[in-house]
Amino acid sequence: MSGIGVFDSGVGGLTVLKTLTQAYPDVNFYFIGDNQRAPYGSRSIEQLKLFSKELITALVDMDVDLIVTACNTISSLDLKSLEKEAGVPIIGIIEATAQLAHTETSNHQIGLIATEKTIESQCYQRLLKELDENNELTALATPQLVPLVEENKMGTEEALERVKEALAPIKGEAFDTLILGCTHYPFLKDEIKQVLGNQISIVDASMAVSDPIKKYIRPDMQVSDRTIKLFTSGDPLQFEKIATGLLAPLDFEIKKINL
Ligand code: SIN
Repeated sequence: MSGIGVFDSGVGGLTVLKTLTQAYPDVNFYFIGDNQRAPYGSRSIEQLKLFSKELITALVDMDVDLIVTACNTISSLDLKSLEKEAGVPIIGIIEATAQLAHTETSNHQIGLIATEKTIESQCYQRLLKELDENNELTALATPQLVPLVEENKMGTEEALERVKEALAPIKGEAFDTLILGCTHYPFLKDEIKQVLGNQISIVDASMAVSDPIKKYIRPDMQVSDRTIKLFTSGDPLQFEKIATGLLAPLDFEIKKINL
């Protein structure tokens, strides 16, 4: 069976999956969330490579035609070598997100919140400078926000407090555009807006990812009754709660996967 494979360390990648399922309503989707081993942001490069190979192999075994890494941390790795081994295109989310931030900014001051690994890779910094020498990035590692989402605490007082604490170092900085450089963070968009104010334009991968996929969609990938299958290495019930809250009324199946 053909289709698009999407993976992430956990539930964050569902924000990317949602956009893709809306943009390509007649294509099958297979999503794996590695919730059992999330968060990825503090893992070593060796571990991240090993985990992504396992996830990619599982998706290739499902017969997907291409794979989207809906995880900034994995997207900051060398995807070309993963692609060679996989034998199908592997598409990261960082280029498209950086491009969107560049289009959005009026003052060339861009903020980035992401995991340590994504920030250390300097990939957003490099891409934004390639797009325009005048672009300046203020980057802050906020890995503490990932477990908040995995624990389904969005919309709570605790979430607002923790977002406030996490963003304190960049509140009041001059950026007019903020990149949510971790696919978990769109779940906390309301809290982030409350803390930083509505005047800041917020950009994330789910807003940018559809167009780069278009060239990979072949007519034979389009089906009349498409299937959406979600797999988690973690607790399927917790995963289902979060997935249903985000994806409803979309029809999907959830299964446990052992990686
Ligand atoms: C994480 O698992 O630490 C976050 C995933 C991401 O970088 O998008």
